[in-house]
Amino acid sequence: MIYLDNAATSYPKPQLVSMAIMNAIKKFGANPGRSGHKMSIDSAFEIYECRKDIADFFSAPGPECVMFTLNCTHAINMVLKGLLKPGDHVVISSLEHNAVTRPLKALEHQGITFNEAKVYPGDNESTLSSFRNAINSKTALIACTHASNVWGIRLPISRICALAHEYGIPMLVDAAQSAGHIPIDLSETHIDYLCLAGHKGLYGPMGTGVLITSLGDTLSTIIEGGTGTNSESYLQTEVTPEKFESGTPNVIGISGLHAGIKFLKTKKVSNIARHEHQIINYLYENLVDIKHVELYMGKPVPEHFVPLLSFNISGLSSENVAAILNDRGIYVRPGLHCAPSAHRFCNTLDRGAVRICPSAFTKKQDIDFLLNCLKKIHIK
Ligand code: ALA
Repeated sequence: MIYLDNAATSYPKPQLVSMAIMNAIKKFGANPGRSGHKMSIDSAFEIYECRKDIADFFSAPGPECVMFTLNCTHAINMVLKGLLKPGDHVVISSLEHNAVTRPLKALEHQGITFNEAKVYPGDNESTLSSFRNAINSKTALIACTHASNVWGIRLPISRICALAHEYGIPMLVDAAQSAGHIPIDLSETHIDYLCLAGHKGLYGPMGTGVLITSLGDTLSTIIEGGTGTNSESYLQTEVTPEKFESGTPNVIGISGLHAGIKFLKTKKVSNIARHEHQIINYLYENLVDIKHVELYMGKPVPEHFVPLLSFNISGLSSENVAAILNDRGIYVRPGLHCAPSAHRFCNTLDRGAVRICPSAFTKKQDIDFLLNCLKKIHIK
């Protein structure tokens, strides 16, 4: 089996992650911060250590800025629904995932509006002008993806962030597709709300996500409940991260994510990214020569792209191509990738595209096998 669907979720996970999950199920089997016995304290300590390492990995001010969530979509919803008020306006990019557009659509009935700033692949100046032009006096947030989950296009996040702050507007970044592929340093790029998927480039298990913010006091929580603290009060605590984490946490998953972060710290994001870019570049150089392959972007240079690539085969639907590859043991994602805006951007809304995304574990031979299969696809 050749797994090239790492943009959906990474597979395989590093051995360290599988071992941490096994270990957690045995050693951290008690509810953290609730009961006060040794195993409960051990669970709480493991969660705290993971929070600390994540804060360190992204250079966040401290562990109290790290909120665990179910996934990146959950983190984005926490910000959009916890921050925005009737009358507010939001600027998003033309490449957003439904994780951003659907909550904003749902908020329209509360009088919250949004518009898209067009992204110009490889032309940061034009992209920046789009964002500047999309801002109005009601803009209360810029919310955009760091990198398109469909085309890999990178947005100039540091510059968009600086632009937002020039206007006194906070910035949400959906880093589902960039974390683990692009180093993110919050002490340099002052992203106000960084939303992360734990199970993609961070190599944790599915069911893990993170919101990093030092502006927890600007958000109301979208859920209330037990936190194991101030239990005498009927009011939700205002103390972060507890304010946002009511209910029993995913200790096993968080422990796996912790191991994923340790894996990245050891391997280094820049080394992994170099490897993945070599793979995707090799794929691109070869796809260009296959007549029936339709490409939509130029060479995926690291400055402007994360290492993923989507294409089509003339005369076939993306689902057809994925089914043919599936029969050969190659796993990819076709269709719209939950990002209709990104497909509208390239006029592929009607047929989607076939997406290839490598990981730290992908080998050149995997791509050779894929290329061979693609060359043999018979076009009527
Ligand atoms: N957002 C994920 C993807 O792009 C699931 O496939």
